[in-house]
This record gives sequence, C-alpha cells and structure tokens, in this order.
Amino acid sequence: MRRKLSVDFCRLVTFFGRNLRPAAVSRTAGQRSAFSPRFCRKSTTCRSTMDLSDMRKKYKGDEECFEESQLVSLDPIKQFGNWFDEATKCPEIGEANAMCIATATKDGRPSARMVLLKGYSNEGFRFFTNYESRKGSELGSNPYACLVFYWEPLNRQIRIEGNVERIPHQTSCEYFQSRPKSSQIGAVVSRQSTPVPNRDYLRQKNAELEEKYKEADVPMPDYWGGYIVRPYLIEFWQGQTNRLHDRIVFSKPKDGESELEEFQHQAEGGWVYQRLAP
Ligand SMILES: Cc1cc2nc3c(=O)[nH]c(=O)nc-3n(C[C@H](O)[C@H](O)[C@H](O)COP(=O)(O)O)c2cc1C
Repeated sequence: MRRKLSVDFCRLVTFFGRNLRPAAVSRTAGQRSAFSPRFCRKSTTCRSTMDLSDMRKKYKGDEECFEESQLVSLDPIKQFGNWFDEATKCPEIGEANAMCIATATKDGRPSARMVLLKGYSNEGFRFFTNYESRKGSELGSNPYACLVFYWEPLNRQIRIEGNVERIPHQTSCEYFQSRPKSSQIGAVVSRQSTPVPNRDYLRQKNAELEEKYKEADVPMPDYWGGYIVRPYLIEFWQGQTNRLHDRIVFSKPKDGESELEEFQHQAEGGWVYQRLAP
C-alpha cells in the first residue's frame, strides 16, 4: 500500500509538473501567486512541510553484502578505480565522475556543490574550477575538502577527505587547451560566483569573446585551473536491504602513529582500514 501510494504520488507530481511548467515560466511572480492556489493541494512546493518518511528503496540482499574479502585491493585508490569503472559502465549512471565537494570557511562554515572528477591517481583526485569562486576562496583559507560520489543504481557511496592543493599551472594549461572552445570561452566569461546583472550580460560577453577568438586560441585565464585532493580518508559504502549497510574505511595514520587500533588492519601504501557500523 505504501509503495502504491508513493508511486501514485510520483505520477501526480510528474503530471502536474509537465502541465504547469510552460504556463508558469511565462507568468510574472505576482501572476504566479494568483495562479497557484488552485494547484496547492497537489503541488510539492506549496506545502509548508513535506512528509517523506515513507520514501525508501530496496537495497541488496544480505547474500550480496560487501565483505572485506571482496575488496579488489587493499590499496583504496585501486578499490576506488574498481568501483568507478563499474559506475562508468552502468548505463543508468549519466555522469559517474560527478561528485559533491564540500569546503568550509576558515571559521568552519561549510558549503557544498557538484564538480566533475577529471583524473585520479595515487597522488589524489583532480578537478577544475575558478580559483576566485566561492570554493576557490574557501580552499585558499582552509585547504581541506570532502568529496562524495553517490552511484544510486549501484547503491554505492564513496567519501574522500583530504588536503587540497592547486595543480601546476602548466598542467592546468594543458587541460584547458584540450577543452572545446565553447568551454574555454565559458571559463573566461564567467567570473564564477560573482553577481551579474542578468542573463543577457553573460550572453553578450560570450558573443564578444566568440568573435574575438574566432581565429585565435583562447588563453587560459589566470583565475582558472585545477586542484588536487590528496586523500587521508576514503570510505566505501555499500547499501544493503536489511539496513546492515557495509562501510569500510581506509585512513592514513598521522606521522608517528604506527600502532594499529582495535579492529584496524594494515592495508597497502601506508593505509590502514576498518569496518564501521552503519
Ligand atoms: C554535475 C555538475 C558538474 C559540475 N562540474 C563543475 C566543475 O567541474 N567545475 C566547476 O567549477 N563547476 C562545476 N559545476 C558547477 C558547480 O556545482 C558550482 O555551481 C560552481 O562551481 C560554483 O560553485 P561555488 O560558488 O560554490 O564555488 C558543476 C555542476 C554540476 C551540477
């Protein structure tokens, strides 16, 4: 019954979403508020509180659990590679390299957003952005980040924590030059995270730059480039039906910490690992 209700609810929202959207976009905010009450009982956005307590999905059975013996490697970067490859091969996952990155101000106020992973190795995990963006300025004063991948069809999550550094200028340049021209221009147009008057302002700036660089290479702006997250913690989470989710966490002991703690095991490459309660 619960399942049935939530499916019908989904249909309802899709139905109204489809029918409302074209009308809603062409109305002003004032017109919209006069227009919306008719739909209030069905729309998700009009309720002051949405009860989502029934929303849960089936995970895997206990026979499909993720045991330590199923780690393809005791090197967490290789284990990451294995899960990442499986995610890229999964047709239901559109962008396996999309990850959430959380940063924080110096006084600890967090912020998070999605970026694309553009490479990984034993050194760490690379992504590209605007150094003057909000994340860029937070990383400037507090060079630590947390990355989260969630591959819903596989019921898998990976959490990575590490310290962050800018990658060499030359490496950023090489990647910048490999990007399509439209993306290069996009990076120049957008002083990311700064206020702009309206969309036309960006559209016009984009057109000007397209004209300017019609026959020429786009130089990489000095406010754009890559970062590497050098991990000191990598957690693999596998969801299970019975809520006994698997969590295996690798960490790098701090300098001078050589003793294994209770339930901790030696891994490879200077890592140790242990299982956490879900
Ligand atoms: C799937 C996805 C991928 C994204 N990839 C990037 C990226 O690789 N680099 C980037 O700067 N912003 C990317 N963005 C946009 C960011 O989420 C964000 O809006 C932008 O970087 C500004 O964030 P900030 O103001 O917190 O610095 C992506 C957004 C989505 C939804």
